[in-house]
Amino acid sequence: MRQFLNERLPLTEFSAHLRKPLPKHINLLFSLGSLAMFLLLLQAATGAFLALYYSPSPEHAHNAVTYISEEVPFGSFVRGLHHWGASAMVIIVFLHLLRVVIYSSYKAPRELTWIAGVFLLLVVLGFGFTGYLLPWDEKAYWATVVGVEISSTAPVLGDFVAKVMRGGTEIGAVTLTRFYALHTIWLPWLAFGLVGVHLLLVRYYGSSGIPQNPTEDMSSQSVERGKPFYPDQVFEDVVGMLILFVVLAAVALSIPVPLEGIADPTNASHDPRPEWYFLFLFQLLKYFQGPLEIVGTFVIPTVGIVLLLFLPFLDRSERAVLWKRPVALTVTTVCVAGIAGLTLLGASSPKLETEETLQAIEQPQNTMPSDTEMEAVEEGEEVFDFQLTEEEIEGTEEEEEVFDFQLTEEELQ
Ligand code: HEM
Repeated sequence: MRQFLNERLPLTEFSAHLRKPLPKHINLLFSLGSLAMFLLLLQAATGAFLALYYSPSPEHAHNAVTYISEEVPFGSFVRGLHHWGASAMVIIVFLHLLRVVIYSSYKAPRELTWIAGVFLLLVVLGFGFTGYLLPWDEKAYWATVVGVEISSTAPVLGDFVAKVMRGGTEIGAVTLTRFYALHTIWLPWLAFGLVGVHLLLVRYYGSSGIPQNPTEDMSSQSVERGKPFYPDQVFEDVVGMLILFVVLAAVALSIPVPLEGIADPTNASHDPRPEWYFLFLFQLLKYFQGPLEIVGTFVIPTVGIVLLLFLPFLDRSERAVLWKRPVALTVTTVCVAGIAGLTLLGASSPKLETEETLQAIEQPQNTMPSDTEMEAVEEGEEVFDFQLTEEEIEGTEEEEEVFDFQLTEEELQ
């Protein structure tokens, strides 16, 4: 069998490539990329399980999530892994980025690896934003209202982008379908494609290692060689993955994933809070109101992303660890402390303040059915608003706690 495969596939070359030694000075921080990849796979696996029961429509989504948490065997555990795994993913990817900054690993010839990484960071945040709406509970709905409203403030394309996200003028059934499609099809394809490019580049250039002296050449040939990638580094990475999984499993088993009441578009007094990793942006908005609003909603985030993308071209200093580069050290410290500080402030802000922010970013134009839709309903026309019909509402009133995403007898007939 081995000979058969050897004759047909370049297995010997592949194995020799994997056994090539890594730079001598490598520490545990070099496993963060592998941990991010492990989490991406874990999210894909747990998400595939959740998709077996989930239904992306306003009348079924919340019920489906309740059903998963309360009725499906291991449903609550898998949902916990997916929920806490998303937060872990943001933390690990952020730490991986920081590791790359600390050891100047973004410098030539690794600029494209870095750029693919920045896009991956955006995709990871995109997963968080689109996934947050899916349970269709109060916090999901109102945080998305605010999020989409923020994107509408961008110049030129803002309104268009918001309309495309909403699938119309309101957050409703079409929005939920779009977010679900983005979350389960578009973003996963993008993520795995980008990870493919990212890893190909990482393998092509070899690991950069820890910079030892300022004149060091960044090409992999010149670095002092140490342990091989396989089996030594792979073994360390797998141990890291196991530890991470045990921690995540413990969290998933001990902290239930929050689920508020079903989204009520008429309850505009709800405190709209995004997931914790968007809190710093949310807090930022509070300092820019009125005509300056666009600075918080668009200018600062866009400039931040552009600067991050072009970092390898902006910082052309010699390669050295961060603490030997005073300017880079100051900028990185200010950015990390700023993000952490704003996150803490956002998390501890009282409810009223958050409400004021929602008002400041312009209320959603209309969360109630539009006039055209009302007229159409009166005339008995078919409206694809995916809202509950009167019969369905009566049905739900009669049978309490019906997991109504399952077909009812009437529907079967
Ligand atoms: C889903 C997200 C990501 C995955 C799965 C991922 C995966 C990996 C892996 C497995 C490595 C090799 C091991 C290591 O150096 O840790 C690596 C290296 C690298 N990553 Fe990422 N990464 C992700 C996000 C990012 C981000 C957000 C950035 C920066 C913006 C980035 C920039 C880099 C760079 C420059 C290297 C080369 C480091 C070196 O040669 O020393 N990556 N990545």
